[in-house]
Amino acid sequence: MTTSGSADLVIVANRLPVDRVTDADGGPGWRRSPGGLVSALEPVMRANDGAWLGWPGGTETDLEPFVEDGLQLVPIGLTAEEVEEHYEGFSNGTLWPLYHDVVAKPEFHREWWDSYVAVNRRFAERAAEVASEGATVWVQDYQMQLVPQMLRELRPDLRIGFYLHIPFPPAELFQQLPWRRQLLEGLLGADLVGFQLPGAAQNFVRLVRQRVGHKTHRDMVYLPDGRTVKAAAFPISIDVDSFAELASSPAVEARAAEIREALGNPSKVFLGIDRLDYTKGIYARLRAYSELVRDGHLDVDDAVFVQVATPSRERVEQYRILRDDIDRLVGRINGDLGRIGRPAISYLHSSYPREEMAALYRAADVMVVTPFRDGMNLVAKEYVACRLDESGALVLSEFAGAAEELKQAWLVNPYDINGMKQALLEAHRAPEKELTRRMRAMRKCVAEHDVTQWASDFLEELAATRPEHGKVVRP
Ligand code: F6P
Repeated sequence: MTTSGSADLVIVANRLPVDRVTDADGGPGWRRSPGGLVSALEPVMRANDGAWLGWPGGTETDLEPFVEDGLQLVPIGLTAEEVEEHYEGFSNGTLWPLYHDVVAKPEFHREWWDSYVAVNRRFAERAAEVASEGATVWVQDYQMQLVPQMLRELRPDLRIGFYLHIPFPPAELFQQLPWRRQLLEGLLGADLVGFQLPGAAQNFVRLVRQRVGHKTHRDMVYLPDGRTVKAAAFPISIDVDSFAELASSPAVEARAAEIREALGNPSKVFLGIDRLDYTKGIYARLRAYSELVRDGHLDVDDAVFVQVATPSRERVEQYRILRDDIDRLVGRINGDLGRIGRPAISYLHSSYPREEMAALYRAADVMVVTPFRDGMNLVAKEYVACRLDESGALVLSEFAGAAEELKQAWLVNPYDINGMKQALLEAHRAPEKELTRRMRAMRKCVAEHDVTQWASDFLEELAATRPEHGKVVRP
């Protein structure tokens, strides 16, 4: 067993919750990443001597642990080759498309797998060093699926949780993976494996029974050594209060008005905000919208579609191809259908701070979220959280995890272009009363399940596993 460290709660994630920036004095510094995960975990980390292990991005390999804004951060460097093979390769060229319904073709390369194993081992070894005796370790996401088992071998005293932020595919797809058994065994190192949806937990348990041969009953797996592993759903959410507060600020309100003004004060603003990813269905969505304009259901003088596409994983080939495809499509649509100063689509390839996102949400009459497959989709929840006056419509893919909660959205099959066109028109034409009824119900749902609740639900369930284990991390 490795000598133990002092952290009672260790978060293991592919990325650190900070980004590299240049300080005022020109030197390297860090800035907190905007995500909800870190804000949800921050209080529990502070209360439990928490440490967060992750890749700082880039290829710096000699970074020492540091404290940033009271959080203990442990950077784990990746070499250029590991970035290519572990991150861009196995994580985002194999697992990402495979777990998202093979929307793009997953590539299987043995060198990528070897790199994934090596990087997972380094993370597990480092976690074993920083975790105190009997600590809780919470491993995050698909880049780290081997860590639970590797860590358990090094430190059987730990309580280990794993949470998958993306979908977990049905057996028919998962079994394409040449390393399917190793991945399942990796996850089984955890005491609790969390998923976005109950269906994903069921897929996992079924695969464990079929492929690893362990006994299972409902959401429990029984290992030959007497240990049990629980698989359950914990749908993730957002920091609802902070979005609502942001949206209600006079600066955001003024910015929302400015955005509408800059768009030429159309009567309807449609909005899409996504990472530029082929799972998000951006291409099909823009086609559907453009056909409505072409066929005269919408007029560019009166309506505009604002599509924000945040640059992502730009060195992965499928992402480059997608970027070119969208660039061409937007160019063609605007060339064919736009008028001077009135494009059909206002396309922004850029990432924006939360304030600007909140202003966009406030400015948009119809939010369009149409992924082919998405673990949850937090943009849908952010939009709802920012609609303080209960106005606005949400058009949402059935294949986003959020659709299981936001049932009052206009739900669409993103593969069905005509169905999407119909839903866009209905949302666009819906009377105010109808919009309010739907938005009120969705706002209630989002308000009742925020990300802090998500984190404490998971940690409480994890604390309830292995009752013989003495030490408990209090959410
Ligand atoms: O949704 C999965 C996820 O890995 C998130 O955790 C992350 O914010 C996003 O995709 C972007 O991923 P990357 O770390 O590859 O930039």
